[in-house]
Amino acid sequence: MHKTRVLIAGCGDVGTALGLQLARAGADVRGLRRTINQLPAPIQPLAGDLSAADGLPPLAACDYLVYSAAAKSRDLNTYRAVYVDGLRRVLEALPAPPQRLLLTSSTGVYAQHAHEWVDEFSPTEPDSPTGRILLQSEQIAHDAGCPATVVRFSGIYGPGRHHLLDQVRAGIQAPDSPIHYSNRIHRDDCAGILAHLIALDRAGQPLAPLYLASDDAPTPISEVMGWLAEQLGVTITTRRPVRRGGSKRCSNLRLKASGYRFRYPDFRAGFASVLMP
Ligand SMILES: NC(=O)c1ccc[n+]([C@@H]2O[C@H](COP(=O)([O-])OP(=O)(O)OC[C@H]3O[C@@H](n4cnc5c(N)ncnc54)[C@H](OP(=O)(O)O)[C@@H]3O)[C@@H](O)[C@H]2O)c1
Repeated sequence: MHKTRVLIAGCGDVGTALGLQLARAGADVRGLRRTINQLPAPIQPLAGDLSAADGLPPLAACDYLVYSAAAKSRDLNTYRAVYVDGLRRVLEALPAPPQRLLLTSSTGVYAQHAHEWVDEFSPTEPDSPTGRILLQSEQIAHDAGCPATVVRFSGIYGPGRHHLLDQVRAGIQAPDSPIHYSNRIHRDDCAGILAHLIALDRAGQPLAPLYLASDDAPTPISEVMGWLAEQLGVTITTRRPVRRGGSKRCSNLRLKASGYRFRYPDFRAGFASVLMP
């Protein structure tokens, strides 16, 4: 049997962690992005621009296409070029459809904002144009003509992603009221989940078309920032709302029923590993 061939298109933070994990397990991994000098061995680098009409190099057939590109700005043209046009381009450029396409999407497709739980069956009526573009991307995946699984990540944090920590270090905490639930997932769990789904598929287990990927504990953002301030020994001087979508709670029950066990089931475990690596 040949090695599992994986193409990671948009091989950034999550893609690289995934690529390294899969390569360690014996897969043949190619990572496509514009700045390939950032790709560590043994991920095989492929320089390409998903947003440009003639931006892709010749692509070899793969068993798994993981599309995990992220737009660098919220400009709608950039968003469309990366999430919609880029995905179409890679699918067209492959000499044969992959055994399965895995697309990373976002919980930004939900507009719920009354602290309600959302899962794979909840309505998606995004109130932002970027959310609608992500839904379009998901539709392209499901129409791709090969088995496809979409994984909607909540807010990703981990090594090198210091936005929230920087705010707390500056003495800022969200107000306790009104409550605003935040949902998050550690970068290593994002990679772990994608690897888990590929392993299930390789073993002939059925995969769902959609998984919500967020840790066990949606938590008010004020509580997360308060806890971080304690860990960092920072005195809070400013209470300021942190803008991050509607207040909802993301359920990971389907993912856990598939057998995935979170390495960082809540923000305390995950941030502890960031603060004390
Ligand atoms: N950030 C979050 O909290 C969050 C939440 C939910 C979902 N997600 C999704 O999770 C996935 C993984 O995110 P991440 O954190 O790994 O993102 P990331 O570290 O920013 O990586 C994205 C990769 O896409 C590549 N890319 C962007 N534009 C490209 C283009 N035109 N052509 C080729 N490659 C391009 C970038 O490389 P180059 O710039 O070198 O090309 C980069 O390697 C993404 O789909 C993202 O939308 C993120």
